[in-house]
Amino acid sequence: MAPFTKHILCIGAGYVGGPTMAMIAAKCPDYEVTVVDINEARIAQWQTDELPIYEPGLLDVVKVARGRNLFFSTDVAAGIAKADIIFVSVNTPTKTFGEGAGKAADLQYWEKTARQIVQASQHNKIVVEKSTLPVRTARAMERILNANDKGIHFEVISNPEFLAEGTAVQDLLQPDRVLVGSQETPEGLIARQSMVDIYAHWIPRRRILTSNIWSAELSKLVANAFLAQRISSINSISVLCERTGADVNEVAHAIGMDSRIGAKFLKAGVGFGGSCFRKDILNLVYLCEHYGFDEVARYWESVVNINDYQQQRFVRTMLHAMFNTVAGKRIALFGFAFKADTGDTRESPAISIARKLLDERARVVITDPKALGNAKHDLQGLTGDLEFEPDALRAAKGAHAVAVMTDWDVYRHLDYAAIHAAMVHPAFIFDGRNFLDHKQLFDIGFNVYPVGKPYLSHLHGQ
Ligand code: NAD
Ligand code: UGA
Repeated sequence: MAPFTKHILCIGAGYVGGPTMAMIAAKCPDYEVTVVDINEARIAQWQTDELPIYEPGLLDVVKVARGRNLFFSTDVAAGIAKADIIFVSVNTPTKTFGEGAGKAADLQYWEKTARQIVQASQHNKIVVEKSTLPVRTARAMERILNANDKGIHFEVISNPEFLAEGTAVQDLLQPDRVLVGSQETPEGLIARQSMVDIYAHWIPRRRILTSNIWSAELSKLVANAFLAQRISSINSISVLCERTGADVNEVAHAIGMDSRIGAKFLKAGVGFGGSCFRKDILNLVYLCEHYGFDEVARYWESVVNINDYQQQRFVRTMLHAMFNTVAGKRIALFGFAFKADTGDTRESPAISIARKLLDERARVVITDPKALGNAKHDLQGLTGDLEFEPDALRAAKGAHAVAVMTDWDVYRHLDYAAIHAAMVHPAFIFDGRNFLDHKQLFDIGFNVYPVGKPYLSHLHGQ
Protein backbone atom coordinates (compact mmCIF):
# COMPACT_ATOMS: atom_id res chain seq x y z
CA MET A 1 0.00 0.00 0.00
CA ALA A 2 1.26 3.50 -0.87
CA PRO A 3 2.28 5.55 2.17
CA PHE A 4 -0.20 8.16 3.32
CA THR A 5 0.35 11.60 1.78
CA LYS A 6 -0.87 13.42 4.90
CA HIS A 7 -1.54 12.70 8.55
CA ILE A 8 -4.70 14.28 9.87
CA LEU A 9 -5.58 14.32 13.57
CA CYS A 10 -8.83 15.29 15.19
CA ILE A 11 -8.88 16.08 18.91
CA GLY A 12 -12.40 15.39 20.23
CA ALA A 13 -14.36 12.30 19.19
CA GLY A 14 -17.84 13.71 19.75
CA TYR A 15 -20.87 14.46 17.56
CA VAL A 16 -18.72 16.56 15.23
CA GLY A 17 -15.23 15.03 15.40
CA GLY A 18 -16.38 11.43 14.90
CA PRO A 19 -18.68 11.80 11.86
CA THR A 20 -16.58 14.51 10.18
CA MET A 21 -13.39 12.49 10.36
CA ALA A 22 -15.15 9.29 9.32
CA MET A 23 -16.33 11.08 6.16
CA ILE A 24 -12.90 12.58 5.43
CA ALA A 25 -11.25 9.16 5.89
CA ALA A 26 -13.83 7.43 3.72
CA LYS A 27 -13.40 9.97 0.91
CA CYS A 28 -9.62 10.47 1.18
CA PRO A 29 -7.93 7.06 1.29
CA ASP A 30 -4.59 8.79 0.67
CA TYR A 31 -4.75 10.51 4.09
CA GLU A 32 -4.33 8.83 7.46
CA VAL A 33 -7.01 10.11 9.84
CA THR A 34 -6.72 9.59 13.59
CA VAL A 35 -9.33 10.68 16.11
CA VAL A 36 -8.26 11.09 19.73
CA ASP A 37 -10.17 11.83 22.90
CA ILE A 38 -9.50 11.84 26.62
CA ASN A 39 -12.71 9.91 27.12
CA GLU A 40 -11.56 6.28 26.99
CA ALA A 41 -15.06 4.81 26.91
CA ARG A 42 -15.96 6.94 23.89
CA ILE A 43 -12.84 5.88 22.00
CA ALA A 44 -13.48 2.22 22.84
CA GLN A 45 -17.02 2.52 21.46
CA TRP A 46 -15.83 4.06 18.19
CA GLN A 47 -13.93 0.82 17.65
CA THR A 48 -17.08 -1.30 17.89
CA ASP A 49 -20.31 -1.45 15.90
CA GLU A 50 -22.13 0.24 18.83
CA LEU A 51 -20.93 3.77 18.05
CA PRO A 52 -21.07 6.27 20.93
CA ILE A 53 -23.56 8.46 19.04
CA TYR A 54 -26.69 7.48 17.16
CA GLU A 55 -26.58 8.87 13.64
CA PRO A 56 -28.35 7.18 10.71
CA GLY A 57 -25.91 5.77 8.12
CA LEU A 58 -22.81 6.60 10.16
CA LEU A 59 -21.71 3.03 10.86
CA ASP A 60 -21.52 2.30 7.13
CA VAL A 61 -19.23 5.29 6.60
CA VAL A 62 -17.05 4.32 9.57
CA LYS A 63 -16.77 0.77 8.30
CA VAL A 64 -15.45 1.92 4.90
CA ALA A 65 -12.34 3.40 6.51
CA ARG A 66 -11.87 2.01 10.03
CA GLY A 67 -8.60 0.08 10.24
CA ARG A 68 -7.67 1.21 6.71
CA ASN A 69 -6.97 4.91 7.20
CA LEU A 70 -9.28 5.78 10.12
CA PHE A 71 -8.05 5.13 13.64
CA PHE A 72 -9.35 5.97 17.12
CA SER A 73 -6.99 6.39 20.05
CA THR A 74 -6.55 7.93 23.50
CA ASP A 75 -2.90 8.75 22.87
CA VAL A 76 -3.31 12.47 22.24
CA ALA A 77 0.42 13.28 22.37
CA ALA A 78 1.41 10.61 19.82
CA GLY A 79 -1.38 11.77 17.51
CA ILE A 80 -0.20 15.38 17.73
CA ALA A 81 3.44 14.47 17.10
CA LYS A 82 2.63 12.71 13.85
CA ALA A 83 0.00 15.08 12.43
CA ASP A 84 0.35 17.64 9.64
CA ILE A 85 -3.18 18.99 10.13
CA ILE A 86 -4.91 19.00 13.53
CA PHE A 87 -8.65 19.57 13.73
CA VAL A 88 -9.75 20.65 17.18
CA SER A 89 -13.32 19.62 17.85
CA VAL A 90 -13.55 19.74 21.62
CA ASN A 91 -16.60 21.03 23.42
CA THR A 92 -17.03 24.78 23.94
CA PRO A 93 -19.90 25.04 26.43
CA THR A 94 -21.28 28.22 27.96
CA LYS A 95 -19.19 29.47 30.87
CA THR A 96 -20.78 28.73 34.24
CA PHE A 97 -18.47 30.81 36.42
CA GLY A 98 -16.76 34.19 36.67
CA GLU A 99 -16.85 36.93 34.05
CA GLY A 100 -19.41 36.26 31.33
CA ALA A 101 -20.99 33.35 33.25
CA GLY A 102 -24.15 32.13 31.52
CA LYS A 103 -23.23 33.71 28.18
CA ALA A 104 -19.58 33.64 27.16
CA ALA A 105 -17.97 30.52 25.72
CA ASP A 106 -15.91 28.47 28.16
CA LEU A 107 -12.65 28.11 26.27
CA GLN A 108 -10.75 26.10 28.88
CA TYR A 109 -10.87 22.84 26.84
CA TRP A 110 -9.73 24.70 23.75
CA GLU A 111 -6.83 26.39 25.49
CA LYS A 112 -5.75 23.15 27.17
CA THR A 113 -5.70 21.52 23.75
CA ALA A 114 -3.64 24.34 22.25
CA ARG A 115 -1.04 23.94 25.01
CA GLN A 116 -0.96 20.17 24.50
CA ILE A 117 -0.36 20.74 20.78
CA VAL A 118 2.61 23.00 21.50
CA GLN A 119 4.06 20.51 23.95
CA ALA A 120 3.86 17.44 21.70
CA SER A 121 4.83 19.06 18.38
CA GLN A 122 8.18 18.80 16.64
CA HIS A 123 7.31 20.26 13.21
CA ASN A 124 5.10 22.93 11.59
CA LYS A 125 1.37 22.20 11.59
CA ILE A 126 -1.99 23.54 10.53
CA VAL A 127 -4.39 23.82 13.47
CA VAL A 128 -8.04 23.90 12.46
CA GLU A 129 -10.80 25.41 14.57
CA LYS A 130 -13.64 22.93 14.05
CA SER A 131 -15.36 23.76 17.32
CA THR A 132 -17.65 26.79 17.28
CA LEU A 133 -15.77 29.69 18.81
CA PRO A 134 -16.20 33.40 19.48
CA VAL A 135 -14.92 35.59 16.66
CA ARG A 136 -11.23 36.48 17.18
CA THR A 137 -10.41 33.26 19.07
CA ALA A 138 -7.91 32.43 16.33
CA ARG A 139 -5.81 35.42 17.43
CA ALA A 140 -5.51 34.04 20.98
CA MET A 141 -4.81 30.55 19.65
CA GLU A 142 -2.06 31.79 17.37
CA ARG A 143 -0.44 33.60 20.27
CA ILE A 144 -0.47 30.51 22.49
CA LEU A 145 0.68 28.18 19.73
CA ASN A 146 3.39 30.39 18.29
CA ALA A 147 4.84 31.37 21.68
CA ASN A 148 6.97 28.23 21.52
CA ASP A 149 10.75 28.14 21.68
CA LYS A 150 11.12 25.22 19.26
CA GLY A 151 10.90 27.37 16.12
CA ILE A 152 7.69 25.64 15.06
CA HIS A 153 5.10 27.62 13.10
CA PHE A 154 1.41 26.89 13.57
CA GLU A 155 -1.08 28.26 11.05
CA VAL A 156 -4.60 28.57 12.45
CA ILE A 157 -7.56 27.95 10.15
CA SER A 158 -11.27 28.36 10.88
CA ASN A 159 -13.36 25.58 9.34
CA PRO A 160 -16.67 25.66 11.21
CA GLU A 161 -19.01 22.71 10.96
CA PHE A 162 -22.61 23.16 9.80
CA LEU A 163 -23.90 19.57 10.11
CA ALA A 164 -27.12 18.94 12.00
CA GLU A 165 -27.58 15.89 14.19
CA GLY A 166 -29.71 13.13 12.75
CA THR A 167 -28.69 14.13 9.21
CA ALA A 168 -24.93 14.33 9.79
CA VAL A 169 -24.01 11.79 7.11
CA GLN A 170 -26.05 13.47 4.39
CA ASP A 171 -24.89 16.93 5.51
CA LEU A 172 -21.26 15.83 5.28
CA LEU A 173 -21.71 14.02 2.00
CA GLN A 174 -23.47 16.88 0.23
CA PRO A 175 -23.03 20.04 2.26
CA ASP A 176 -24.65 23.31 1.13
CA ARG A 177 -21.16 24.71 1.59
CA VAL A 178 -17.88 24.17 3.37
CA LEU A 179 -16.24 27.28 4.78
CA VAL A 180 -12.48 27.69 5.16
CA GLY A 181 -11.19 30.91 6.70
CA SER A 182 -7.51 31.79 6.94
CA GLN A 183 -5.18 34.70 7.42
CA GLU A 184 -4.47 36.34 4.08
CA THR A 185 -0.69 35.90 4.44
CA PRO A 186 1.39 33.60 2.19
CA GLU A 187 1.45 30.91 4.94
CA GLY A 188 -2.27 31.39 5.56
CA LEU A 189 -3.11 30.96 1.88
CA ILE A 190 -1.03 27.77 1.62
CA ALA A 191 -2.80 26.33 4.66
CA ARG A 192 -6.16 27.36 3.18
CA GLN A 193 -5.32 25.45 0.01
CA SER A 194 -4.44 22.30 2.00
CA MET A 195 -7.91 22.45 3.54
CA VAL A 196 -9.59 22.98 0.17
CA ASP A 197 -7.66 19.95 -1.15
CA ILE A 198 -9.18 17.73 1.54
CA TYR A 199 -12.78 18.67 0.79
CA ALA A 200 -12.27 18.76 -2.98
CA HIS A 201 -11.95 14.94 -2.82
CA TRP A 202 -15.77 14.80 -2.89
CA ILE A 203 -17.31 18.27 -2.73
CA PRO A 204 -17.70 20.44 -5.88
CA ARG A 205 -15.24 23.34 -5.75
CA ARG A 206 -18.02 25.95 -6.05
CA ARG A 207 -19.38 24.75 -2.69
CA ILE A 208 -16.06 25.23 -0.92
CA LEU A 209 -15.98 28.84 0.22
CA THR A 210 -12.84 30.58 1.35
CA SER A 211 -12.79 33.77 3.39
CA ASN A 212 -10.78 35.71 5.89
CA ILE A 213 -10.54 33.98 9.25
CA TRP A 214 -12.78 36.38 11.19
CA SER A 215 -15.59 36.06 8.64
CA ALA A 216 -15.43 32.26 8.98
CA GLU A 217 -15.55 32.37 12.78
CA LEU A 218 -18.40 34.87 12.81
CA SER A 219 -20.40 33.14 10.04
CA LYS A 220 -20.83 30.05 12.20
CA LEU A 221 -22.36 31.99 15.10
CA VAL A 222 -24.53 33.98 12.69
CA ALA A 223 -25.78 30.89 10.84
CA ASN A 224 -27.00 29.36 14.10
CA ALA A 225 -28.46 32.66 15.26
CA PHE A 226 -30.43 33.09 12.02
CA LEU A 227 -31.73 29.50 12.10
CA ALA A 228 -32.84 29.83 15.72
CA GLN A 229 -34.33 33.25 15.02
CA ARG A 230 -36.67 31.72 12.44
CA ILE A 231 -37.92 29.20 14.99
CA SER A 232 -38.50 31.87 17.62
CA SER A 233 -40.21 34.06 15.04
CA ILE A 234 -42.73 31.38 14.06
CA ASN A 235 -43.19 30.38 17.72
CA SER A 236 -43.98 33.98 18.59
CA ILE A 237 -46.67 33.92 15.90
CA SER A 238 -48.04 30.60 17.24
CA VAL A 239 -49.29 32.48 20.31
CA LEU A 240 -51.39 34.77 18.13
CA CYS A 241 -52.66 31.85 16.07
CA GLU A 242 -54.05 30.06 19.13
CA ARG A 243 -56.05 33.16 20.06
CA THR A 244 -57.28 34.19 16.64
CA GLY A 245 -58.25 30.94 14.95
CA ALA A 246 -55.34 31.12 12.51
CA ASP A 247 -53.36 27.90 11.98
CA VAL A 248 -49.61 28.36 12.35
CA ASN A 249 -48.84 25.61 9.81
CA GLU A 250 -50.99 27.40 7.23
CA VAL A 251 -49.33 30.72 8.02
CA ALA A 252 -45.85 29.12 7.76
CA HIS A 253 -46.79 27.54 4.44
CA ALA A 254 -48.18 30.78 3.07
CA ILE A 255 -45.15 32.87 4.00
CA GLY A 256 -42.64 30.10 3.21
CA MET A 257 -43.76 29.98 -0.43
CA ASP A 258 -42.32 33.45 -0.83
CA SER A 259 -38.92 32.52 -2.18
CA ARG A 260 -37.39 35.45 -0.30
CA ILE A 261 -38.51 33.89 3.00
CA GLY A 262 -38.17 30.17 2.18
CA ALA A 263 -40.02 27.22 3.67
CA LYS A 264 -37.46 25.66 6.01
CA PHE A 265 -37.12 26.14 9.77
CA LEU A 266 -40.64 27.44 10.20
CA LYS A 267 -42.05 24.59 12.27
CA ALA A 268 -43.68 25.86 15.45
CA GLY A 269 -43.43 23.72 18.56
CA VAL A 270 -42.01 23.58 22.08
CA GLY A 271 -38.92 25.43 20.91
CA PHE A 272 -35.42 24.62 19.85
CA GLY A 273 -33.05 22.43 21.80
CA GLY A 274 -29.68 20.95 20.97
CA SER A 275 -26.25 21.67 22.29
CA CYS A 276 -25.56 24.71 20.15
CA PHE A 277 -28.34 27.18 19.32
CA ARG A 278 -28.69 28.55 22.83
CA LYS A 279 -24.98 28.59 23.61
CA ASP A 280 -24.01 30.14 20.28
CA ILE A 281 -26.63 32.90 20.48
CA LEU A 282 -25.62 33.71 24.06
CA ASN A 283 -22.05 33.78 22.85
CA LEU A 284 -23.07 36.29 20.17
CA VAL A 285 -24.93 38.32 22.79
CA TYR A 286 -21.83 38.36 24.97
CA LEU A 287 -19.67 39.50 22.06
CA CYS A 288 -22.10 42.35 21.30
CA GLU A 289 -22.04 43.40 24.96
CA HIS A 290 -18.27 43.16 25.00
CA TYR A 291 -18.06 45.62 22.10
CA GLY A 292 -20.72 47.85 23.71
CA PHE A 293 -23.54 47.14 21.24
CA ASP A 294 -26.31 46.70 23.79
CA GLU A 295 -29.23 47.15 21.37
CA VAL A 296 -27.82 44.41 19.14
CA ALA A 297 -27.26 42.19 22.17
CA ARG A 298 -30.88 42.61 23.30
CA TYR A 299 -32.12 41.85 19.78
CA TRP A 300 -30.40 38.44 19.68
CA GLU A 301 -31.14 37.70 23.33
CA SER A 302 -34.85 37.94 22.55
CA VAL A 303 -34.50 34.81 20.36
CA VAL A 304 -33.55 32.83 23.47
CA ASN A 305 -36.20 34.57 25.61
CA ILE A 306 -38.99 33.58 23.20
CA ASN A 307 -37.71 30.00 23.27
CA ASP A 308 -37.91 29.90 27.09
CA TYR A 309 -41.33 31.56 26.96
CA GLN A 310 -42.62 28.92 24.53
CA GLN A 311 -41.70 26.13 26.95
CA GLN A 312 -43.28 27.91 29.94
CA ARG A 313 -46.37 28.56 27.87
CA PHE A 314 -46.64 24.88 26.91
CA VAL A 315 -46.78 23.81 30.56
CA ARG A 316 -49.25 26.60 31.37
CA THR A 317 -51.51 25.36 28.55
CA MET A 318 -51.35 21.86 30.05
CA LEU A 319 -52.25 23.16 33.48
CA HIS A 320 -55.19 25.25 32.27
CA ALA A 321 -56.57 22.47 30.10
CA MET A 322 -56.32 19.92 32.90
CA PHE A 323 -58.48 21.90 35.31
CA ASN A 324 -55.57 23.94 36.73
CA THR A 325 -53.81 21.07 38.42
CA VAL A 326 -51.62 18.19 37.37
CA ALA A 327 -50.66 17.17 40.92
CA GLY A 328 -50.80 13.38 41.25
CA LYS A 329 -51.70 12.97 37.55
CA ARG A 330 -49.65 10.63 35.39
CA ILE A 331 -48.30 12.44 32.33
CA ALA A 332 -46.48 10.58 29.58
CA LEU A 333 -43.79 12.53 27.72
CA PHE A 334 -43.43 11.04 24.24
CA GLY A 335 -39.82 11.66 23.30
CA PHE A 336 -36.95 13.22 25.20
CA ALA A 337 -34.34 13.77 22.45
CA PHE A 338 -34.08 17.40 21.29
CA LYS A 339 -35.18 16.27 17.82
CA ALA A 340 -35.92 13.04 15.98
CA ASP A 341 -33.25 10.58 14.83
CA THR A 342 -30.79 11.34 17.59
CA GLY A 343 -30.24 10.09 21.13
CA ASP A 344 -28.89 13.54 22.08
CA THR A 345 -30.87 15.34 24.78
CA ARG A 346 -28.64 18.38 25.31
CA GLU A 347 -30.83 21.46 25.96
CA SER A 348 -33.88 19.44 24.94
CA PRO A 349 -37.11 21.31 25.68
CA ALA A 350 -38.24 18.05 27.34
CA ILE A 351 -35.79 18.68 30.19
CA SER A 352 -37.32 21.96 31.31
CA ILE A 353 -40.85 20.71 30.68
CA ALA A 354 -40.26 17.54 32.75
CA ARG A 355 -38.83 19.68 35.56
CA LYS A 356 -41.79 22.07 35.51
CA LEU A 357 -44.26 19.18 35.58
CA LEU A 358 -42.42 17.61 38.53
CA ASP A 359 -42.54 21.00 40.29
CA GLU A 360 -46.31 20.84 39.79
CA ARG A 361 -46.16 17.38 41.47
CA ALA A 362 -47.23 15.50 38.35
CA ARG A 363 -46.21 11.84 37.99
CA VAL A 364 -43.97 11.99 34.94
CA VAL A 365 -43.22 8.98 32.75
CA ILE A 366 -40.74 9.39 29.92
CA THR A 367 -40.49 7.27 26.81
CA ASP A 368 -38.06 7.61 23.89
CA PRO A 369 -36.69 5.17 21.30
CA LYS A 370 -33.04 6.29 21.67
CA ALA A 371 -32.61 8.80 24.46
CA LEU A 372 -33.74 7.12 27.70
CA GLY A 373 -30.14 6.70 28.93
CA ASN A 374 -29.42 10.39 28.46
CA ALA A 375 -32.81 11.32 29.92
CA LYS A 376 -32.02 9.43 33.13
CA HIS A 377 -28.72 11.25 33.33
CA ASP A 378 -30.32 14.68 32.72
CA LEU A 379 -32.96 14.23 35.39
CA GLN A 380 -30.90 12.44 38.02
CA GLY A 381 -31.19 13.87 41.49
CA LEU A 382 -34.64 15.34 40.87
CA THR A 383 -37.19 14.56 43.50
CA GLY A 384 -40.65 13.52 42.47
CA ASP A 385 -42.49 10.69 40.82
CA LEU A 386 -40.43 9.95 37.71
CA GLU A 387 -40.42 6.83 35.57
CA PHE A 388 -38.66 5.76 32.36
CA GLU A 389 -40.46 3.37 30.04
CA PRO A 390 -39.19 2.26 26.61
CA ASP A 391 -42.66 1.30 25.36
CA ALA A 392 -44.95 4.23 24.44
CA LEU A 393 -48.19 2.34 25.01
CA ARG A 394 -47.09 1.21 28.48
CA ALA A 395 -46.00 4.78 29.25
CA ALA A 396 -49.46 6.05 28.38
CA LYS A 397 -51.26 3.36 30.40
CA GLY A 398 -53.15 5.01 33.23
CA ALA A 399 -51.98 8.49 32.14
CA HIS A 400 -54.18 11.57 32.17
CA ALA A 401 -52.19 13.16 29.37
CA VAL A 402 -49.65 12.51 26.66
CA ALA A 403 -47.30 15.36 25.74
CA VAL A 404 -45.27 14.95 22.55
CA MET A 405 -41.77 16.35 22.98
CA THR A 406 -39.91 14.86 20.00
CA ASP A 407 -41.04 14.40 16.39
CA TRP A 408 -40.03 10.72 16.17
CA ASP A 409 -41.75 9.22 13.16
CA VAL A 410 -42.83 6.20 15.25
CA TYR A 411 -45.16 8.46 17.22
CA ARG A 412 -47.12 9.20 14.07
CA HIS A 413 -47.94 5.52 13.63
CA LEU A 414 -48.92 4.45 17.13
CA ASP A 415 -52.29 2.86 17.81
CA TYR A 416 -53.86 5.93 19.39
CA ALA A 417 -57.22 4.24 19.84
CA ALA A 418 -55.50 1.65 22.07
CA ILE A 419 -53.58 4.42 23.84
CA HIS A 420 -56.79 6.36 24.46
CA ALA A 421 -58.49 3.25 25.80
CA ALA A 422 -55.62 2.67 28.25
CA MET A 423 -55.66 6.24 29.61
CA VAL A 424 -57.68 7.96 32.34
CA HIS A 425 -60.58 9.95 30.89
CA PRO A 426 -60.97 12.71 29.89
CA ALA A 427 -57.72 12.03 28.07
CA PHE A 428 -55.54 14.88 26.83
CA ILE A 429 -52.89 15.05 24.17
CA PHE A 430 -50.54 18.03 23.90
CA ASP A 431 -48.70 17.94 20.61
CA GLY A 432 -45.55 19.94 21.26
CA ARG A 433 -44.26 19.12 17.78
CA ASN A 434 -47.49 19.77 15.99
CA PHE A 435 -47.12 16.77 13.77
CA LEU A 436 -49.87 14.31 14.69
CA ASP A 437 -53.23 13.98 12.95
CA HIS A 438 -55.22 16.18 15.32
CA LYS A 439 -58.64 15.60 13.78
CA GLN A 440 -58.19 11.84 13.97
CA LEU A 441 -57.09 12.05 17.60
CA PHE A 442 -60.11 14.21 18.41
CA ASP A 443 -62.41 11.69 16.72
CA ILE A 444 -60.87 8.90 18.83
CA GLY A 445 -61.90 10.89 21.91
CA PHE A 446 -58.80 12.87 22.89
CA ASN A 447 -58.89 16.52 23.88
CA VAL A 448 -56.19 17.80 21.55
CA TYR A 449 -53.90 20.77 22.16
CA PRO A 450 -51.55 21.52 19.27
CA VAL A 451 -49.17 24.50 19.20
CA GLY A 452 -50.37 27.47 17.18
CA LYS A 453 -53.76 26.07 16.28
CA PRO A 454 -57.10 26.22 18.03
CA TYR A 455 -57.50 23.28 20.42
CA LEU A 456 -60.05 20.52 19.85
CA SER A 457 -61.92 19.74 23.05
CA HIS A 458 -64.88 17.53 23.95
CA LEU A 459 -65.21 19.43 27.21
CA HIS A 460 -66.74 22.69 25.96
CA GLY A 461 -69.48 23.93 28.17
CA GLN A 462 -68.62 21.64 31.09
P1 NAD B 1 -18.97 16.63 22.22
O1 NAD B 1 -19.07 17.01 23.65
O2 NAD B 1 -19.86 15.57 21.66
O3 NAD B 1 -17.47 16.17 21.90
C1 NAD B 1 -16.34 16.85 22.34
C2 NAD B 1 -15.29 15.81 22.75
O4 NAD B 1 -14.06 16.48 23.03
C3 NAD B 1 -15.64 15.01 24.00
O5 NAD B 1 -15.68 13.62 23.70
C4 NAD B 1 -14.50 15.35 25.00
O6 NAD B 1 -14.12 14.25 25.80
C5 NAD B 1 -13.39 15.74 24.05
N1 NAD B 1 -12.35 16.56 24.67
C6 NAD B 1 -12.48 17.67 25.45
N2 NAD B 1 -11.27 18.14 25.81
C7 NAD B 1 -10.34 17.32 25.25
C8 NAD B 1 -8.91 17.29 25.25
N3 NAD B 1 -8.19 18.20 25.90
N4 NAD B 1 -8.29 16.29 24.57
C9 NAD B 1 -9.00 15.34 23.91
N5 NAD B 1 -10.35 15.33 23.87
C10 NAD B 1 -11.02 16.30 24.52
O7 NAD B 1 -19.13 17.99 21.39
P2 NAD B 1 -19.66 18.15 19.89
O8 NAD B 1 -21.15 18.14 19.88
O9 NAD B 1 -18.92 17.25 19.00
O10 NAD B 1 -19.23 19.66 19.62
C11 NAD B 1 -17.88 20.02 19.44
C12 NAD B 1 -17.84 21.44 18.90
O11 NAD B 1 -18.47 21.48 17.62
C13 NAD B 1 -18.56 22.47 19.75
O12 NAD B 1 -17.84 23.68 19.70
C14 NAD B 1 -19.88 22.65 19.05
O13 NAD B 1 -20.41 23.95 19.23
C15 NAD B 1 -19.52 22.46 17.60
N6 NAD B 1 -20.60 21.96 16.73
C16 NAD B 1 -21.43 20.96 17.17
C17 NAD B 1 -22.43 20.45 16.32
C18 NAD B 1 -23.35 19.35 16.75
O14 NAD B 1 -24.25 19.02 15.98
N7 NAD B 1 -23.20 18.76 17.91
C19 NAD B 1 -22.54 20.95 15.01
C20 NAD B 1 -21.66 21.96 14.60
C21 NAD B 1 -20.69 22.45 15.46
C1 UGA C 1 -28.12 22.99 14.30
C2 UGA C 1 -27.94 23.56 12.89
O1 UGA C 1 -29.06 23.17 12.09
C3 UGA C 1 -26.65 23.05 12.25
O2 UGA C 1 -26.45 23.69 10.99
C4 UGA C 1 -25.47 23.41 13.17
O3 UGA C 1 -24.27 22.89 12.64
C5 UGA C 1 -25.71 22.79 14.54
O4 UGA C 1 -26.97 23.30 15.08
C6 UGA C 1 -24.67 23.17 15.54
O5 UGA C 1 -23.95 24.12 15.38
O6 UGA C 1 -24.65 22.44 16.55
P1 UGA C 1 -28.98 20.69 15.30
O7 UGA C 1 -28.99 21.44 16.59
O8 UGA C 1 -28.33 19.36 15.25
O9 UGA C 1 -28.27 21.58 14.18
O10 UGA C 1 -30.47 20.46 14.82
P2 UGA C 1 -31.58 21.34 14.05
O11 UGA C 1 -32.16 20.50 13.00
O12 UGA C 1 -31.07 22.65 13.66
O13 UGA C 1 -32.67 21.52 15.18
C7 UGA C 1 -32.44 22.31 16.33
C8 UGA C 1 -33.69 22.43 17.16
O14 UGA C 1 -34.64 23.26 16.50
C9 UGA C 1 -34.40 21.08 17.42
O15 UGA C 1 -34.85 21.06 18.75
C10 UGA C 1 -35.56 21.11 16.45
O16 UGA C 1 -36.65 20.34 16.87
C11 UGA C 1 -35.91 22.59 16.46
N1 UGA C 1 -36.61 23.05 15.24
C12 UGA C 1 -36.00 22.98 14.02
C13 UGA C 1 -37.89 23.60 15.36
O17 UGA C 1 -38.45 23.70 16.47
N2 UGA C 1 -38.52 24.04 14.22
C14 UGA C 1 -37.94 23.98 12.99
O18 UGA C 1 -38.58 24.40 12.00
C15 UGA C 1 -36.65 23.42 12.89
